[in-house]
Amino acid sequence: MIATLLVIVAAYLIGALSGGLLIGRLLGKADLRAAGSGNAGATNALRTGGRLYGVLVLLFDLAKGVVAAGLLPLLVAGGPGWLAFACGAAAVIGHVYPVYFGFAGGKGAATLIGVLVVLAPGPLVPGVLTFVVVLVLSGMVSLAILLAMGAVVFTQAVWVWPALGSAPVLFALAMWLLMLFTHRSNVSRLLAGEESRFERVMLLRR
Ligand code: G3P
Repeated sequence: MIATLLVIVAAYLIGALSGGLLIGRLLGKADLRAAGSGNAGATNALRTGGRLYGVLVLLFDLAKGVVAAGLLPLLVAGGPGWLAFACGAAAVIGHVYPVYFGFAGGKGAATLIGVLVVLAPGPLVPGVLTFVVVLVLSGMVSLAILLAMGAVVFTQAVWVWPALGSAPVLFALAMWLLMLFTHRSNVSRLLAGEESRFERVMLLRR
């Protein structure tokens, strides 16, 4: 039991390594929490610091999810079946509330994608397709993320539930609710018609 708890704490500590803030310091960028949308995530890194910064933050934060949900549970031989889900959730929570950065981090989407790469690669496919279609049509990353997570949950419910039971579905649903919570300022802007759009020119910037 102690080993299980330690691994979950380790997943939180890995998730708390904010790519946006750590890579930003390495690249000499301003604190993301005081720039653009104020979100310490890849979208805001791209928006305020350019393509290289955005891509590095995306890959770093995504890798945290893969390590937390895919590798850490392997350290506990014969661990409970729910350990990978707990580690994935801990990593996302660590990203949102990082102990190293005053508990003010990002919104957790990239880290969650990394977790889903490990725990739900099949349902992630319609999620990615939904993300791309919504992003292209709307230009809004937040809307694309939230609808993509909805697609993952829906796919889990109709496809995975009959085969593997309710746990993966409940996990995806809980993560979707967490995303709605962390994106609450985006949801307010979406409802008010004021959400920022992802300008194509951002991809062309260095
Ligand atoms: O997951 C973050 C993205 O959906 C929105 O980021 O910076 O526009 O609030 P941002």
